[in-house]
Amino acid sequence: MSDIDTSQFLIKTEPYYRPVGDEIDQYAAAYDVRMPVMLKGPTGCGKSRFVEYMAWKLQRPLITVACNEDMTASDLIGRFLLDINGTKWQDGPLTVAARIGAICYLDEVVEARQDTTVVIHPLTDHRRQLPLEKKGELVDAHPDFQVVISYNPGYQSMMKDLKQSTKQRFGAMSFDYPSTGTEAEIVAHEAGIDLKTAERLVQVAQRSRNLKGHGLDEGMSTRLLVYAGQLIAKNIAPQAACQMALVEPLTDDGDMRDTLQAAVTTFFPEVSDSSKVA
Ligand SMILES: Nc1ncnc2c1ncn2[C@@H]1O[C@H](COP(=O)(O)OP(=O)(O)OP(=O)(O)O)[C@@H](O)[C@H]1O
Ligand SMILES: [Mg+2]
Repeated sequence: MSDIDTSQFLIKTEPYYRPVGDEIDQYAAAYDVRMPVMLKGPTGCGKSRFVEYMAWKLQRPLITVACNEDMTASDLIGRFLLDINGTKWQDGPLTVAARIGAICYLDEVVEARQDTTVVIHPLTDHRRQLPLEKKGELVDAHPDFQVVISYNPGYQSMMKDLKQSTKQRFGAMSFDYPSTGTEAEIVAHEAGIDLKTAERLVQVAQRSRNLKGHGLDEGMSTRLLVYAGQLIAKNIAPQAACQMALVEPLTDDGDMRDTLQAAVTTFFPEVSDSSKVA
């Protein structure tokens, strides 16, 4: 049917994923019936890691597309390219995924324009087809094909929300930052630091998350906590590590930086060697 080497899209080693609830069983059930799935949740809370883990577990190839507002339908579907023999059709990532039976993960789908997003409609209802109008071909999706989309609710204005007709083609799973113990476990594992330090990082993050909507658009993500932990593992003093990985990325506002810095010193009161010198 197609001469694409699917093995390049297979995830060969088990990604580290720490379950936070029943999400593995729920996703597996949705995949079993080939239900399109929407993952909602703030940045850096584990959505992409979860999809990688599930693709590995289900032994399906994974094709990820980072969506942006300049993306056109052709970027997803494919286009004619000029070569020495004339024109040659090249499948886009969505078409490749539909042909080979991959999980197609459209990351940050809300960033794409609505006229781009609608190309997934016939693939995400009972039709499971993709019309390649320019090529004059109707692709029947491989039985194993599934669409997964992600987005961060709350970032977008009404203008940038998904259409109901798009949303209502998906089962949705909500992700959030895990409980203290679980998140500390994740950070300790990912950064290679002890659990106690990881727990303190999580506590700093929780302070910042309480400031969401009160001067911060978003609190510190698990991803940033892993960054901070990685710096600490490289012998950067915790306060400096937190400054670099947790405070500076979050805000350019001086007062807010002070507030966050105060949260850092609450949980990491020790004066670092570098600040002694300064
Ligand atoms: N449940 C988890 N198990 C293992 N690692 C996790 C988990 N949750 C978060 N992480 C860690 O957090 C990092 C960020 O997660 P990920 O990249 O999946 O976030 P995301 O939700 O896709 O964010 P974005 O919306 O910005 O793309 C991962 O690289 C991983 O280190
Ligand atoms: Mg992601």
